Amino acid sequence: MKLINGLAVFEDGHKNNKPVVFIHGFPFDHTMWHNQIDFLKNDFYCVTYDLRGLGQSKAGQGQYTIEGFTDDLFEIMDELKLSRPVLCGLSMGGYIALRAMERNQERFSGLALMDTKASADDNEGKLKRADGIKKINLQGIKNFIAGFVPNCFGDIAMQEMKDMYETTLDKSLKSDPVGVKGCLLAMAGRTDTEPFLEKIEVPALVMCGSLDKLIPPEVMRGMAEKIKGSEFASVPRAGHITPLENPEFVNDVLAGFLRRLIKK
Ligand code: MLT
Repeated sequence: MKLINGLAVFEDGHKNNKPVVFIHGFPFDHTMWHNQIDFLKNDFYCVTYDLRGLGQSKAGQGQYTIEGFTDDLFEIMDELKLSRPVLCGLSMGGYIALRAMERNQERFSGLALMDTKASADDNEGKLKRADGIKKINLQGIKNFIAGFVPNCFGDIAMQEMKDMYETTLDKSLKSDPVGVKGCLLAMAGRTDTEPFLEKIEVPALVMCGSLDKLIPPEVMRGMAEKIKGSEFASVPRAGHITPLENPEFVNDVLAGFLRRLIKK
């Protein structure tokens, strides 16, 4: 683990290989990608990190924005001297990936989006974030996490992958409330990157859990249709946390996409 600007950053694989930067979702940490890193690290230089306020990255004041999270990403890329990595983001990680691409897509050679969307929160969504913050303040972080995390997983994973589910939930339950509230504020205040989708020029892969309750596959299919030449895959037997719920499928599709990309 390396600390970059207070962020816990993890590197696997050889620096001479194509870099791939993985950005996890909320309220999880970099370990969400452990199956993909194990599968890809012999052929790719895999970089992942804990978003500010989550996992091992300190919460600080908790005054976050997606813009600030994007600054964090660019700082990590500068510090590690990453040359045109492929960016792979899930959900909140996807919001950051899309904004980073919008700010400077020339710095990237490919984009993989999982269980995410380009639109900003509508009023109902913003009120849900406010409610989440209130719940953390009044009832504590554990109550909020225990209500939020089960919705992230599909029923199949919760029944058939109990160890994975419980380990992931346990890690989230240990989150710093300041960090979690900061992420909720950042997501509520994010910009809409929909108009940018048609301007994406790099190869793109869009993947969505077929059982995703938070961002349904139709939404992601619609997003894929707006990104020129993008590939779309629906991940069977998975809810919102596809890399953990169906790692074999995600590994195969992602590895295929990355291998085609480095041949170009
Ligand atoms: C995530 O998985 O990052 C979050 O569920 C995204 C969100 O709440 O919008």
